[in-house]
Amino acid sequence: MRWLVTGAHGMLGQDLVALLRERGHDVTGLDRGDLDITDAAATAGAADGYDVVANVAAYTAVDAAEADESTAFTVNAAGPALLARAARAAGARIVQISTDYVFDGHAAQPYAEDAPILPRSAYGRTKAAGEWAVRAEAPDHLVVRTAWLYGAHGSCFPKTIARVAAERGGLDVVADQVGQPTWTVDLADLVERLVAAGAPAGTYHGTSQGETSWHGFAQAAVAAAGMDPAIVRETTSEKFERPAPRPAYSVLGHEALRAAGLEPIGDWAGRWDAAAAAVLG
Ligand SMILES: NC(=O)c1ccc[n+]([C@@H]2O[C@H](COP(=O)([O-])OP(=O)(O)OC[C@H]3O[C@@H](n4cnc5c(N)ncnc54)[C@H](OP(=O)(O)O)[C@@H]3O)[C@@H](O)[C@H]2O)c1
Repeated sequence: MRWLVTGAHGMLGQDLVALLRERGHDVTGLDRGDLDITDAAATAGAADGYDVVANVAAYTAVDAAEADESTAFTVNAAGPALLARAARAAGARIVQISTDYVFDGHAAQPYAEDAPILPRSAYGRTKAAGEWAVRAEAPDHLVVRTAWLYGAHGSCFPKTIARVAAERGGLDVVADQVGQPTWTVDLADLVERLVAAGAPAGTYHGTSQGETSWHGFAQAAVAAAGMDPAIVRETTSEKFERPAPRPAYSVLGHEALRAAGLEPIGDWAGRWDAAAAAVLG
């Protein structure tokens, strides 16, 4: 299949391009310098000749978005609208990567794909608008929400934790935010499987199964780096005030995948075991 991947130099983008090539697809990976997804003239016709457009480009600076929501909106909503229009015109499917931040984070059980959204941050609002835009512009869409991504190609939570733990000999990490650490390679694999299976258009959740807190994930990261997990101390979100509110509960359900006959990503702990050496280097 012929794939166009935008945001190809980002953390997920690099792994997606590599995985698609490994599986024999014909892939064009473009980043901002090649194709700015907010440029209407550049995006018109950009999907011509492709079977699939995977939009991995995004404004991902969650805290910065609070003070610059209009820029985040342009990248996370207007850009995907332009790409979706181009994909539809070209007869291509569009895959739009979205986020757990579209939910309020107040649930006590996993969010279903059709659970009501209620973003509490500027980033979440702009990503939710991106979902709507893609659905409106391109009936043949796959909106894939992910969360707590980590990967080899970019700064990410386990790398930061391992470095800080080594530098300081111990650190405090919040234990009152729960989610599903997800490896970019696993998400790339899932995106490829969704398209290869001809999954029905709709919204899917691309996260690992199970759940843990940032504290639990930090302990796993520190252990993988050869240190004692006990050096990671528990703290609370109150002590880590940040511009954008963080969801307390970011656990996503995977029923839509199962209904489409696709196996969700495995349990987060086993997947971290598989990923740790590649991610920590
Ligand atoms: N990381 C997470 O934990 C997480 C969680 C949930 C959902 N997601 C979603 O997963 C996707 C991938 O995230 P990621 O962590 O891989 O992000 P990332 O590393 O920040 O990559 C995003 C890429 O998009 C590019 N980009 C930004 N603005 C652009 C524009 N106007 N035109 C073209 N490219 C542009 C960036 O280029 P520059 O470097 O030049 O800005 C960067 O290469 C995003 O949709 C994100 O919202 C991520």
